[in-house]
Amino acid sequence: MKCLITGGAGFIGSNLALELEKHEHEVVVVDNLLTGNKNNLEGFKGKFIELDISEPFDINNNFDIIFHQAAITDPRHPNDEETYNKNIQGFNNIINLAQKNNAKLIYASTAGLYGNGSTPMKEDQEKEILSVYGKSKIEMDEIAASLFDKMHIVGLRYFNVFGPREMYKGRAASMIYHLGKQIKSDNKPRIFKFGEQKRDHIYVKDAVEATIMAVNIKKSCIINVGTGIATTFNDLIKILNEVLGKNLEPEYFDMPYNPKTYQSNTQADTTKTENILGFKSKWSLKDGIKDYFSWLDKNGWDNE
Ligand SMILES: NC(=O)c1ccc[n+]([C@@H]2O[C@H](COP(=O)([O-])OP(=O)(O)OC[C@H]3O[C@@H](n4cnc5c(N)ncnc54)[C@H](O)[C@@H]3O)[C@@H](O)[C@H]2O)c1
Repeated sequence: MKCLITGGAGFIGSNLALELEKHEHEVVVVDNLLTGNKNNLEGFKGKFIELDISEPFDINNNFDIIFHQAAITDPRHPNDEETYNKNIQGFNNIINLAQKNNAKLIYASTAGLYGNGSTPMKEDQEKEILSVYGKSKIEMDEIAASLFDKMHIVGLRYFNVFGPREMYKGRAASMIYHLGKQIKSDNKPRIFKFGEQKRDHIYVKDAVEATIMAVNIKKSCIINVGTGIATTFNDLIKILNEVLGKNLEPEYFDMPYNPKTYQSNTQADTTKTENILGFKSKWSLKDGIKDYFSWLDKNGWDNE
């Protein structure tokens, strides 16, 4: 299959590109290298094109599948207007390209749009805008829903993805990466008071598998990609200490953000994920962290 990955030099996109190549697919990556980096594509044999998909562009290729991962992904990106405009315009351009190519379109949505809604989070529950990033993803889902009858379009609401090749995201990289780094260098892991907020952490190898499975889904839809398991930051720190052979107590500090813009808990309802997508996560949190940290030990914990 001929695949295009937008944002393919980023975290999830690069893992996806490398996995698709393992299965002999022909892969083209486009990325404007905002938070992505070519180093993430070490070993990638396909074509890389540096471009901003929110600007007019012309790519001549008959793609069978487009995986749209590109977005301004930092919810605290300083320019709200840019986040909104680029995420929406980029999506519209990619929908046009998919329609021209008659390609299946699998795009990244987010669990962030459930805000502080009830858990476990169901696809059809009410949404809450906590950031312009979240707003742009809600609107992308609305655009997609209006096209369900016209094309194969699947939105994946990723929960908290962690794993290799996320370090170029900087502060927006997972808490597993940041806390792991602190513990590894014998610093107390720093978390917001009092560590009882919960996250549904999903290993990137699982997230990539779910993304590829979306190609064969029978009907266009929007679906959660999470494990269904929520872990408190206090428990996460216990696991990180175990994996790293340390025993560091958390240091709690006041959350610096307006609590109305902070998502306290995430947990996927995985009913549709299992029954419609046919996906169930394979990696336990501890095994995913072990696999990830051995990759970091081999490849470096920093992006220098
Ligand atoms: N990582 C997570 O936990 C998570 C959770 C929910 C949703 N998502 C979504 O998954 C997708 C991938 O996220 P990620 O974690 O890999 O982040 P990332 O920042 O590593 O990847 C995004 C990539 O898109 C590129 N990009 C941004 N704007 C672009 C543009 N206009 N044109 C071309 N390229 C552009 C960036 O350079 C980067 O390589 C995003 O759409 C994100 O919103 C991720």
